[in-house]
Amino acid sequence: MKNVLITGTTSGIGRAFAEKFACMGNNIILVSRDKQKLEQQKLFLQNQYHVTVFFIAYDLTKEDAVDFIMKKIYNWNISVDFLVNNAGFNECGLFSETDINKEIKMIDLHIRFITQLTKRILPIMEKNNSGHILNIGSTGSFIPSPFDAVYSATKAYIMSFSNALYGEYANTGIKVTLLCPGATKTEFAQKANMEHTLLFRFAVMKPDKVVKIAYPKMIKGKRLVIPGLYNKLLVFFSKVMPIRITNKLTLIMMTGR
Ligand SMILES: NC(=O)c1ccc[n+]([C@@H]2O[C@H](COP(=O)([O-])OP(=O)(O)OC[C@H]3O[C@@H](n4cnc5c(N)ncnc54)[C@H](OP(=O)(O)O)[C@@H]3O)[C@@H](O)[C@H]2O)c1
Repeated sequence: MKNVLITGTTSGIGRAFAEKFACMGNNIILVSRDKQKLEQQKLFLQNQYHVTVFFIAYDLTKEDAVDFIMKKIYNWNISVDFLVNNAGFNECGLFSETDINKEIKMIDLHIRFITQLTKRILPIMEKNNSGHILNIGSTGSFIPSPFDAVYSATKAYIMSFSNALYGEYANTGIKVTLLCPGATKTEFAQKANMEHTLLFRFAVMKPDKVVKIAYPKMIKGKRLVIPGLYNKLLVFFSKVMPIRITNKLTLIMMTGR
């Protein structure tokens, strides 16, 4: 049986991935902050899929988060075959008006934490010459988004980081995949007060669908997965259009202006 470490499992895309991996017979290490939800999730997955489930309740923006996780993994004496870097959140609005403390925490979670955790997990995978890393970016990885400046910049980092690692491990047993969902129906938009935006009113995908599309592609070792035609088109046009046009269109999506 393989072991899967997934961050951000108490809701949304991470929860859907945890269920998919468990359903495929993998043991799961759940990581999020909400201990009560994690306890319930552990019981549900164990009873439903007869796999072993561990959980770590911790705020991943804390400086010692990676040490905390690695200590647990060593104490449990388990390997990690899949790493899903999923936990994330948004703080949207005009950059001059958004909360800098939240933005720094976002940078901590999306950039520092992912970088540190991946560095500590890779040697375990290298020892076995086998493993999968799935990084959750966003269509925003491709689009410098007005009203979402810091979020889209952190997701651009994840894209660049993931693509570079894909190149480093191309001829090994380690696979690195970047998943770039568009608007997805999770708690994400409501937490960031974005539910009213045009972005979250059209072509919003369910998290189960995102996972259904992404899972087999990740197993095959695809470098990039953009789920859904609408999101693929969004990314395509963002690449070919001048930035001032993408800026204008993104502003409309984010503010209706
Ligand atoms: N939903 C979308 O439209 C969308 C689009 C593109 C990309 N994404 C990306 O998809 C990923 C998952 O988002 P989602 O839509 O599933 O959002 P979600 O429903 O809000 O879930 C986010 C998960 O991350 C965990 N989390 C957040 N901050 C954390 C922290 N400081 N420490 C530990 N865990 C933390 C939350 O758990 P706790 O609160 O229990 O800690 C929760 O389980 C994110 O990386 C997001 O950027 C989402």
